[in-house]
Amino acid sequence: MSFLIAVAGKGGIGKTTIAGLIVRNLKRRGKVPILAVDADSNVNLAETIGFQQGKTVGAVREEFSSHMRNMPPGMGKETLLELKLNEAMMEGEGLDILAMGRGEGPGCYCPVNNMMRRFLEVLIKNYPFVVIDNEAGMEHLSRRILQRIDALLIVSDPTPKGIRTAGRIRALTEELELSVGGSYFVINRIEGDLDPIIETEMEKEGFTSFYGIPMDRLIHDYDLSLRPLTDLPEESVALKAVDEILDEVIQS
Ligand SMILES: Nc1ncnc2c1ncn2[C@@H]1O[C@H](COP(=O)(O)OP(=O)(O)OP(=O)(O)O)[C@@H](O)[C@H]1O
Ligand SMILES: [Mg+2]
Repeated sequence: MSFLIAVAGKGGIGKTTIAGLIVRNLKRRGKVPILAVDADSNVNLAETIGFQQGKTVGAVREEFSSHMRNMPPGMGKETLLELKLNEAMMEGEGLDILAMGRGEGPGCYCPVNNMMRRFLEVLIKNYPFVVIDNEAGMEHLSRRILQRIDALLIVSDPTPKGIRTAGRIRALTEELELSVGGSYFVINRIEGDLDPIIETEMEKEGFTSFYGIPMDRLIHDYDLSLRPLTDLPEESVALKAVDEILDEVIQS
């Protein structure tokens, strides 16, 4: 049975960074093969973990949809789509990546989406760990591409707006009645002590505790020089913090 870890939060909060650090830590723990899913239409998870971005699932779906309209009935559409979707898989050692790309446009050919959902369900079964980098709008969660999440990391920064957005995301997952095994509230880019204003805001949103990730100069520098997080040295404080979060997530 695969264990699905999803990272959510408002734009620019550190979702891709955290998803990348989780992938790196899982690899070091030998929890392979890992499937990393970039569910943000503005794809960049692959590059963050040292891959070159290839074709997205969205691009494959579009090619296939236009092709499918002209296909005579009785052809093995599902098999053909599966073959085509394999073109979107980026394969590495102990780690594969799938980038979802753009969602379907107004001309959506919905049977393709249903086929895609089935393809993902089957694919996921091949991996003991699946890490999903969500987009800020939570579109994929809303569209229920995923039926369940074992661990949902809701990421905020130490600002009242970040905490309120985190509260809204948690409410959305409850509204959608998504099956979430464990929910983990994470505050990223912490510098020094938390301001009492933030603690009050957390209380208001009903967050009783949090997992902290410090502001890490190394992460910033790697981002600036476009170096993948897979090259980050072990002394990175953010990496250590993510490691501790994973200890809890995995044992749960
Ligand atoms: N703990 C940290 N310390 C220092 N810099 C960080 C930390 N976490 C994230 N960053 C930096 O913050 C910026 C935004 O991070 P990231 O791209 O991971 O956010 P995101 O939530 O995925 O954004 P988007 O919503 O645009 O996809 C990046 O420049 C990243 O390097
Ligand atoms: Mg991102």
